[in-house]
Amino acid sequence: MSTQADGSLSGRRLLVGVTGGIAAYKSAHLVRLLRTAGAQVRVVMTAAAQSFITPLTLQALSGSPVRTRLLDPGAEAGMDHIELARWAERVLVAPASAHFLARLAQGLADDLLTTLCLASAAPLWVAPAMNQQMWRHPATQDNLALLRRRSVTILGPAEGEQACGESGPGRMLEPEAIIAALADGFRARTLEGCRVVLTAGPTREAIDPVRFVGNRSSGRMGYALAQALAGFGAAVELVSGPSGLEPPAGVTRVVVESALEMETAVMERIEGCDLFVAAAAVADYRPEQVAPAKIKKSEGVFTLRLVRNPDILARVSALPGGPFTVGFAAETERLEEQARAKLVGKGLDMIAANQVGGTEGGFEREDNALLVLWRGGQRLLPMAPKTEIAEQLARLIAEQYHAQATGQDP
Ligand code: CTP
Repeated sequence: MSTQADGSLSGRRLLVGVTGGIAAYKSAHLVRLLRTAGAQVRVVMTAAAQSFITPLTLQALSGSPVRTRLLDPGAEAGMDHIELARWAERVLVAPASAHFLARLAQGLADDLLTTLCLASAAPLWVAPAMNQQMWRHPATQDNLALLRRRSVTILGPAEGEQACGESGPGRMLEPEAIIAALADGFRARTLEGCRVVLTAGPTREAIDPVRFVGNRSSGRMGYALAQALAGFGAAVELVSGPSGLEPPAGVTRVVVESALEMETAVMERIEGCDLFVAAAAVADYRPEQVAPAKIKKSEGVFTLRLVRNPDILARVSALPGGPFTVGFAAETERLEEQARAKLVGKGLDMIAANQVGGTEGGFEREDNALLVLWRGGQRLLPMAPKTEIAEQLARLIAEQYHAQATGQDP
């Protein structure tokens, strides 16, 4: 069993409570995802929950008998409710109905789930789901305020179309979002107190007021890395080129357009920063002149003269007493050799290289694989969704950053 504090759910002991609401059908997917992530799951359902989904479904998905009643001699002969309360590392109630939240706020113990919530010392997380009017009701809001004061973590709810046909806040968060939040809660905050500046996305180099030279970078890898580093407790400033992505929660974003603007934004923030990660696909060249008005077509060949842009990463790594620097390299051939040459050439502490072209990962893809090199070693992060790769890379960065700070090889 894994007990690492790295945000992995593998081996974690989770007690999942399901209360009565249409969102109970999503609990089936939630339980399945938790099991796929390697968690041990025990499910407890309220009486009302069973009107929406059967215990048998959740039993099959969780791989353990589902408990529904407090006074059940058969079930109590196995793991009794106090043992179950002690077993849990986290109690997660999803969906949590308005009625359940009210019972929780009052400290009632009138069924198995409320009793377990009182009897367990484990952190309690709830994902409310209800009609938007019920969510907005002062009674519900007062109950939530009380629960927050007692350190109950409230996940969501999301806004949007509701099963009742209304629209507004009250939808249960999607299972994937609940799992990401749970994983964040388990992650050790190994970068607490660290300041990170991270570049991401493409740059646009203006030709005239309407045209630019750009590239296909989506910013996904950089944004996922910013989120993962923030999850480890770092204060992250994301200097981003134009991207359609939302800034991750808890990350400060500065949007820039050109390489020169990106350089200025980075240099303004770099003093006192502990880590610099250059995930942006910065244009190596920009048009020598930006035409003040839209260029009109004419007969014959049009020639655009390009001049070199400053290398932001090289500039940061050359700063005396500068931060721990991490660069990226996208290569079509001789990946390791070229990446190591860049690591040394630019004076970096770490480089994450990926193979581009052909069927490999890279721009505009959800998946990626990375070969990560540092002076004393290397690690291959095999093909996985970018969020997963970002998580693994963030962990490696944290390890190497600490190893360098303490002068050891981990
Ligand atoms: N980088 C940067 N500023 C630039 C160019 C690149 O900060 N003007 C950073 C990128 O964010 C990335 C790394 O440097 O972390 C990429 O290195 P680079 O040598 O520029 O890669 P390529 O452009 O692929 O280089 P080459 O054409 O020499 O292979």
